[in-house]
Amino acid sequence: MRTDPTLERPAISAAGRYDALHADRTADVAFYAREAAAAGGPVLEVGCGTGRVSLAIAAAGVQITGLDRDPELLSRAAAKRGAQEESPSDVRPEGGPGRLSLVCADMRAYAFRRPFAAVMMPFRVFQSMLSVPDQLAALAAARVALAPGGRLVLDLFDPRLDVLAEAAEGPAALADTGRSFHDARGRWRERVAARYDLESQIVDLTYVYERQAAAGEVAERSFERLRVRYFTRWEFEHLLARAGYEVEALYGGWEGGPPTPEGEDMIWIATKRGVRRRATRGRA
Ligand SMILES: C[S@@+](CC[C@H](N)C(=O)[O-])C[C@H]1O[C@@H](n2cnc3c(N)ncnc32)[C@H](O)[C@@H]1O
Repeated sequence: MRTDPTLERPAISAAGRYDALHADRTADVAFYAREAAAAGGPVLEVGCGTGRVSLAIAAAGVQITGLDRDPELLSRAAAKRGAQEESPSDVRPEGGPGRLSLVCADMRAYAFRRPFAAVMMPFRVFQSMLSVPDQLAALAAARVALAPGGRLVLDLFDPRLDVLAEAAEGPAALADTGRSFHDARGRWRERVAARYDLESQIVDLTYVYERQAAAGEVAERSFERLRVRYFTRWEFEHLLARAGYEVEALYGGWEGGPPTPEGEDMIWIATKRGVRRRATRGRA
């Protein structure tokens, strides 16, 4: 019996798949790089993953520390950092790139000797904190890490409660996310089944990756499970206050402006309550 030779090649790693699936997600990277440049550094990115955002911040000339609990994602970030450092100097900003340091730690329990001008949690990282004690622990660790007047910058999914309520009614159906990627074995498409628990506000997501065979059949399948907590706007504002922050700005999109009923993102900027702020922000 002949075996398919492509099956002998290893499938793309989870870290490689993450980068391939999110290659066209660039508006948030530009936003965080601008915020990091405005803070001036040093900056801490909590949940930095493969360095998608951290490396852009370093390329903008800002000193940045990336923290994540997943060693595989961190080693991909380190490999990409090596490639960036070897790139020709004419694509680097004046003064050279900032340095990216990588740290393996849990976002609920870490400490650094020097304070940061900004702590950032891009791409809904905070939503992996499912319980209130975990949420408070993560916000407390970030608060300790921040310099007086430093900024906490993070984004959350903006839940549409009517959509969630409708989705929670029926069985979790597999839906195409519209995202796909290629590796040496072929093209993989991503589908997702979401189960919503309206009481705990936890969404249980099962991602399914399917490699397409020539005749449109599925040649191979792999799965990834992710549980995330969603927050309503006022709940999150109260959570920030309880953790000792005050809100400086809330945007509904990467170019600014308030949240809208159709918006997908809530982008929060907060400072430690009762501490004198750094220079006033240039935006309304
Ligand atoms: C959606 S990814 C975002 C990665 C990166 N910020 C970006 O924008 O591409 C979420 C990241 O949070 C990390 N993460 C989840 N829970 C964590 C925890 N308790 N401590 C540290 N990192 C965590 C995951 O390992 C993953 O890299």
